[in-house]
Amino acid sequence: MRLILLGAPGAGKGTQAEMLIKLYDIPCISTGNIFREHISNNTDLGKQAKAFMDEGKLVPDSLVIELVKSRITQDDCKNGMIFDGFPRTIPQAEALDATLADLNIPIDYVVNVEVPDELIVERMAGRTVCPSCGASYHKVSKKEKLAGTCDLCNSKLVQRDDDKEETVKRRLEIYHAQTEPLIAHYKLQGKVLDIDGVGTVDEVRARVKQALGVN
Ligand code: AP5
Ligand code: MG
Repeated sequence: MRLILLGAPGAGKGTQAEMLIKLYDIPCISTGNIFREHISNNTDLGKQAKAFMDEGKLVPDSLVIELVKSRITQDDCKNGMIFDGFPRTIPQAEALDATLADLNIPIDYVVNVEVPDELIVERMAGRTVCPSCGASYHKVSKKEKLAGTCDLCNSKLVQRDDDKEETVKRRLEIYHAQTEPLIAHYKLQGKVLDIDGVGTVDEVRARVKQALGVN
């Protein structure tokens, strides 16, 4: 199974990806998580990406596309993969389409999680994330078992630098301008499953599974 998760920042892509990874036993390729890993390891790529991310801007296509191209040829992707937060621009989508066509492994579905902007700002304000494994939590809707500690790997949870209200608003503007057009791009290919992303995590999870035809 090869899936793309589309949706605004904070729509719940990462949250639903956690379920889909287990369901299909395939890896999730989150470009945001990959960049955050580079930032915490202080690599050159991390330094370049951080400047854009902290301002809520997109990292340039040239840096993102090569990163993903090399990631999808790794061994763990042989049974499929979930793209979370990639592609995010039309050039990224075209590069992905071309790469997957060369490998003869087309995308099966694009899961488009729809949440209004007002709710997004609220969700981001309550989010904490694990800097080690990338898992995401929320102070109301998805609490960790032991306060401030990741359920999966016991690391200390942190708030993302780009989750300040002003930065979230910038990220939303960029989403509408540059990423939303991808919905039409993939609708032309007949691959989009629109999912109402408003409701509890479990409700949204059930909708995603139903749309994918699994119980
Ligand atoms: P990235 O890490 O991809 O961030 P994003 O797309 O802005 O999305 P988020 O991770 O913020 O949200 P999400 O949809 O995963 O929501 P989550 O499940 O966590 O990218 C960060 C930055 O990296 C970008 O701004 C850019 O600079 C750069 N970048 C990355 N990829 C790039 C690319 N391809 N090209 C260029 N630049 C790139 O949920 C949010 C919160 O809500 C959580 O607390 C969660 O617990 C909670 N929640 C989830 N579902 C529900 C629900 N149903 N009800 C209540 N709460 C919920
Ligand atoms: Mg995410």
